[in-house]
Amino acid sequence: MKVTVHRKAHFNAAHRLFNPKWDDAKNYEIFGKCSNPFYHGHNYELIVAVTGDIDPETGFVMDLKVLRKLIESEVLKNFDHKNLNEEVAVFATLNPTAENIAVVIWNKLRKTINKGLELSVTLYETPRNYVTYTGD
Ligand code: NI
Repeated sequence: MKVTVHRKAHFNAAHRLFNPKWDDAKNYEIFGKCSNPFYHGHNYELIVAVTGDIDPETGFVMDLKVLRKLIESEVLKNFDHKNLNEEVAVFATLNPTAENIAVVIWNKLRKTINKGLELSVTLYETPRNYVTYTGD
């Protein structure tokens, strides 16, 4: 019997989407306003889902207090109120799309969560645009 527990979190961050191989016109054509050279912000909503068996000793799949602290230390501390392109090293060379941010978050959390548990990361860049990564 598998059960999924979820923890929601929130961070604000600035980014610019661009491909350095393209000129400004091509970047604007592909990324639109998200390619503004002066950056812009998003209110990101993060949902981390952990799936596994219920531990008979605790009744938990995973202690959500522990998951909350992991999200704080692995994600929020590094991303909240940051310019992702300029202040988060991995995005110096990786376009900070919602897709890539979700993969980076998943990789950070995967290292810290029990290997017997499945991990899924959902990231909302706007209330209507969101992505999910499960490690595949
Ligand atoms: Ni954007």
